[in-house]
Amino acid sequence: MAKMTRPLIAGNWKMNGLAGSLSELDAIIAGSSSAPFADLLVCPPATLVAAFAARAKGTGVMIGAQDCHMAPCGPHTGDISAEMLRDAGVSFVIVGHSERRADHHESDEIVRQKALAAHRAGLTAIVCVGETKADRDAGNTLDVVGRQISGSVPDGASAANLVVAYEPVWAIGTGVTPTVRDVEQVHELINLKLSMKLSIGSQPVRILYGGSVKSNNCKDLLDILHVDGALVGGASLNAADFLAIAAAVPK
Ligand code: 13P
Repeated sequence: MAKMTRPLIAGNWKMNGLAGSLSELDAIIAGSSSAPFADLLVCPPATLVAAFAARAKGTGVMIGAQDCHMAPCGPHTGDISAEMLRDAGVSFVIVGHSERRADHHESDEIVRQKALAAHRAGLTAIVCVGETKADRDAGNTLDVVGRQISGSVPDGASAANLVVAYEPVWAIGTGVTPTVRDVEQVHELINLKLSMKLSIGSQPVRILYGGSVKSNNCKDLLDILHVDGALVGGASLNAADFLAIAAAVPK
């Protein structure tokens, strides 16, 4: 089904990639014309952000980061601000990925502050939400995701500076995906929640699905109403796999 917005296929490399991985980015750039119906974004680890941004400049591939601190600068050893990321050449930053929510105890309020920091620096925030297996088994998926959207998405955001990614925690890195109906239900809820939160008449914000997206299952997922692209983990590390997913975006 044709989409109302141009789909975004984003690769989250997580804690993977060394200087030699620039060749994988080169392959993505070289093959990007095979995916004419999608925007392409690669989010390498912080160590590679500047080199990737320099290499991708002027191509059809955008570069993003995986996290930012909420302050613009200051005594936060090891952290990186949204302004620094902007300076390094990125245009997107992922905030509130479930791995950060779990590993670094990031609350909805922290995620919201990070999204605001991204906006302050002129970056698009990709705000991640998603239920755990226990939430899903208890029948709480819609409540949990609804609460995460309310708490993590800043008021007044727009399609120009916000993307939301629905990533069920139990689907990440497991090879298991929710049913089409389950994804449809959650994306419908997110779309509704966003339309109440964002300014009236604004363009629809892109809502990505993430969690075990592969070239062999992406078509069904990308066809779902209100699925405006994918946030891809493991399969984004290989240019051919990533491009195959991007090429499956419906016209
Ligand atoms: P996988 O595609 O490896 O399941 O990871 C999804 C994810 O967490 C992307 O942010």
